[in-house]
Amino acid sequence: MLLLSGCGRQSLLSNKSPQTHDITLLWWWMLAAAAIVFFGAVALLTMSWLRRGAPGLPFFGERESIPEGIVLLFGIGIPIVVLVALFAVADVYLVGPSAPPDPRSAAMTVEVIGHQWWWEIRYPGTQAVTANEIHIPVGARVNVVATSGDVIHSFWVPQLARKIDMIPGRQNRVLLYASRSGTYRGQCAEFCGFQHAHMGLYVVAEPQASFQSWLANEAAPARNPPKGPVRIGERVFMTSQCASCHQIRGTPAAATVGPDLSHVASRATLAGAEIRNDISHLAAWITHPQAIKPGDRMPDLGLTAANSTAIVSYLESLR
Ligand code: CUA
Repeated sequence: MLLLSGCGRQSLLSNKSPQTHDITLLWWWMLAAAAIVFFGAVALLTMSWLRRGAPGLPFFGERESIPEGIVLLFGIGIPIVVLVALFAVADVYLVGPSAPPDPRSAAMTVEVIGHQWWWEIRYPGTQAVTANEIHIPVGARVNVVATSGDVIHSFWVPQLARKIDMIPGRQNRVLLYASRSGTYRGQCAEFCGFQHAHMGLYVVAEPQASFQSWLANEAAPARNPPKGPVRIGERVFMTSQCASCHQIRGTPAAATVGPDLSHVASRATLAGAEIRNDISHLAAWITHPQAIKPGDRMPDLGLTAANSTAIVSYLESLR
């Protein structure tokens, strides 16, 4: 078995690139296998129901009257065949082609750090820090380095890559590869506390040119606010509790408890892809985060309506 899987991996690595195997093919294989097992179990249950008049389990001291052959077939034979087949399929279609790329041959590296309950995204070699939204160029082998800032999370973008655990103090790697432009939903796949189910992210795969301009924007310091309400919003932000948890590069706010907000308005979602990033959702979020995501690290600050409006206008200017 080991020999077989080893050969599969080598031949795939040597002459096929990841896009040769659409990962959806694997879904169908897994679904077919699961359907066979499921309907087999239902058939056995139905059989036992139809034979419900027959004598049940033997009394103590009596012999079981089931032929040993059936026990061996269903207890050992079939499970071995099913598990080996699934192992081979998963190894050929998933593990081999999605092996983490050698960082020297990868087009680029992205660091993803799991937090309760959001994702920090860093682009090594640049100043860019963002949250809950990974941008990558289409057709590029991206080396994802995953770790955690608190508990164990799991990075999973089903359409693009297999799961990889995010473990505090460890760096795990996985290949992220998109053959088509698009937005791909990702999800934390390891129970990590109350809001685990609301720890989502998006991967945006885009042409090289637009990726580069996105990255250049994210790497730059935050824009200086123009005079007026936006400038007032900045002052409210800097003098309230916001600045003791968040960073906005180019300003005195330099804390790293919550997401970097230098370009928060460039992101499509907030709060771990839980809500859309628009004026009304942002206002609701900064006013009553605990109503939207109970247990989140972001506390209800008791902002006045005027202060909330001012902060929203400042944050929405941070494109
Ligand atoms: Cu993070 Cu579940």
